Amino acid sequence: MRILVSGGAGYIGSHTTLQLIAAGHDAVIVDDFSRSKHSVVPRLEALAGRPIEVHEVDTTVRPATDGLLADGAFEAVVHFAGLKAVGESVEQPLAYYANNLGSTLSLLEAMRRHDVRTIVFSSSATVYGENAPVPMKEDFPTSATNPYGWTKVMQEQIFRDAAVADPSLRVALLRYFNPVGAHASGTIGEDPSGIPNNLMPLIAQVAVGRRDKVLIYGDDYPTPDGTGRRDYLHVEDLAAGHVAALAHLATTDTSVSTWNLGTGRPTSVREMVDAFSRACGHAVPFEVAPRRPGDIAESYADPSRAESELGWRAERTVDEMCADTWRWQSQNPDGYPED
Ligand code: UFG
Repeated sequence: MRILVSGGAGYIGSHTTLQLIAAGHDAVIVDDFSRSKHSVVPRLEALAGRPIEVHEVDTTVRPATDGLLADGAFEAVVHFAGLKAVGESVEQPLAYYANNLGSTLSLLEAMRRHDVRTIVFSSSATVYGENAPVPMKEDFPTSATNPYGWTKVMQEQIFRDAAVADPSLRVALLRYFNPVGAHASGTIGEDPSGIPNNLMPLIAQVAVGRRDKVLIYGDDYPTPDGTGRRDYLHVEDLAAGHVAALAHLATTDTSVSTWNLGTGRPTSVREMVDAFSRACGHAVPFEVAPRRPGDIAESYADPSRAESELGWRAERTVDEMCADTWRWQSQNPDGYPED
């Protein structure tokens, strides 16, 4: 299939683009490069062994998105483009709603006009809100605690409503748990701008000497070691989930399918710091700090629906996640070269 990958230069988008190409698809990157660097592209081309078509387009701009779909002969869209920093979303809610909802609306509108029926969407376990029991199942109610989370809840609803109006749509809502790790080559990986919000890139930057220490946000949670537990999954397993979802959409009669993508196994912050210390060969310094507002004690998936319906399972271990993150971070201490 010829596939438009919005946000294809980003962390999850870049790994997925490579796997789509490896699966025989023609993946076309569409990215505004506001949170990604152009220098990822030659690295992807080297790994793919072929040129990759790239369009620098902000998908919230309707005429631009419409033009892509009009000219592109696409058969499917994989939609990653979006803003994702929880704290920033609290400070700039309007930017988050405009950007995240805007890109989904203009893609769906352009798909309708140009008869593209299939879309895989980057949703998040954040849609389970703050009081969900674990493990989390797809049929739980959705809610959110911050504007970023609400954009995911709302985008899911937009897809469901669009599919009621047009039952020929085939939509996969993929609820990611905590993606980490990097391509085994060490040449592509996660390169957040500014101070990382997420645990893994923060640990990696401390390990490589860019920052002093990891602050562990709370050790008084009702978990075995008192630190928060999450369902970390390797970005390569996550990318494979997109390839499997696309294949499934080609055969299903269901308009909207929702799948958790996680391992089903929780790992605590302390366990992650220890695992990373083993992977990088030295102790990663840390200090316990107060809880981060809005954090929950535990989040992990029931991934059984994805396993039974997609034949997909997250295979890679926490040690592999840390080893691959370390290879990327140690080979690229400052991330991708500046544009
Ligand atoms: N943590 C620290 N120190 C840090 C950063 C994080 O101790 O510097 C802890 C958090 O308290 C939490 C765990 O590490 O217990 C993981 O935190 P992340 O920020 O990496 O991930 P979250 O689970 O909080 O957030 C992720 C995504 C969000 C999404 C959320 C729920 O980043 O986009 O999962 O799906 F909303």
